[in-house]
Amino acid sequence: MASNSALFQPIKIGKTQLDHRVVLAPLTRFRSDENHVPTALQQEYYAQRATKGGLLISEATFISPTAGAYPGAPGIYSKMQVEGWKPVTDAVHAKGGVIYLQLWHVGRVTASAILPNNVLPVSASPIAMKGRNMYSKKDNEVPHALTVEEIQSVIKNYAQAAKNAIAAGFDGVEIHGANGYLIDQFTNSCSNKRMDQYGGSIENRTRMALEVVKAVTDAVGAERVGIRLSPWSEANQIYDDTPYDTWGYLVEQLQARHGKMAYIHMVEPRDDFSRRTRNDTANSLDPFRRVWKGTFLSAGGYTTNPQLAAKIADETGNLIVFGRAFIANPDIVERLKNGWPLTKYNRKTFYSQGAVGYTDYPFYDPATSSTKANL
Ligand SMILES: Cc1cc2nc3c(=O)[nH]c(=O)nc-3n(C[C@H](O)[C@H](O)[C@H](O)COP(=O)(O)O)c2cc1C
Repeated sequence: MASNSALFQPIKIGKTQLDHRVVLAPLTRFRSDENHVPTALQQEYYAQRATKGGLLISEATFISPTAGAYPGAPGIYSKMQVEGWKPVTDAVHAKGGVIYLQLWHVGRVTASAILPNNVLPVSASPIAMKGRNMYSKKDNEVPHALTVEEIQSVIKNYAQAAKNAIAAGFDGVEIHGANGYLIDQFTNSCSNKRMDQYGGSIENRTRMALEVVKAVTDAVGAERVGIRLSPWSEANQIYDDTPYDTWGYLVEQLQARHGKMAYIHMVEPRDDFSRRTRNDTANSLDPFRRVWKGTFLSAGGYTTNPQLAAKIADETGNLIVFGRAFIANPDIVERLKNGWPLTKYNRKTFYSQGAVGYTDYPFYDPATSSTKANL
């Protein structure tokens, strides 16, 4: 890959100057402790992937005790969690890196069996996911449809979590509006059958996303807030009847109301993570790129086709987000710049515990032209 590619040119997100455009995707890895507090292992993992002027996005992080409660996933609602994140952000900053925290509420994609006081999962509408829940080992439950008052309370949780993230040393936050989780359950037509101001029309279905953005940008400043969206994702049994119209409206509104936001981060239609065989060339993020005038992040499909990263960066000026390839290549920035080979990821250790498949992927050693165990 040509080292003069736009991939290796500086760009700004908010007021923060980046030196290059290779970004660590938000990646859930379940290495936090039983209180959802980040561990020393996580500090090492993020520090390994930090580069001078490079953006890392944290794994999805719970905004409240009832936002998901998956064992091993981190939170940002307790004092212990804020303290636990500080060594992580310090370690990234020590290498000149930039790190955003991804704010997460999973909505219906959890189970009362693991939620505090066994409360029911919540969503836009009382529509259960098909199949068995991996935590309860029972059929997925019919979620409780949030009342308008409860929606306001969840939105406050997002704002407080964003403030906590800044207190923990993060440079900004990314609102997780993708992949079929709570915000996406409001946005998508399949999971939102509400009859009130949060359902029905596109204006109403995107109200939740826009109100979260408003609250979070009010809380920490627009220049420290990004949002992730995935119009074609079918993760967690989500789909929308009119993706261009739905996300077209949402992006237009973000531009009109929150044009100073740090970035919009979108998942490419070809992304094969949530639907492993996806190769969607009929659809494109280009219409959204044309509407959003600020910084744009593109994710999905670069792990399996890294050559595409330079091409899309050169054509669009976008930042390019790597998921699975960044898991397996802590030094991916150097590898791409120098044309060194990439290590293949091991799916079996994505969600396992401990260092194996997490902090033990090798750094490339140019002296011996081979991969060497990570120090
Ligand atoms: C192990 C794993 C965990 C993930 N966790 C998250 C997450 O916490 N938040 C999120 O928005 N996407 C998550 N994703 C999706 C990735 O951010 C990314 O969009 C996807 O892997 C496609 O990029 P890739 O082809 O470079 O891997 C995850 C993907 C993987 C493989």
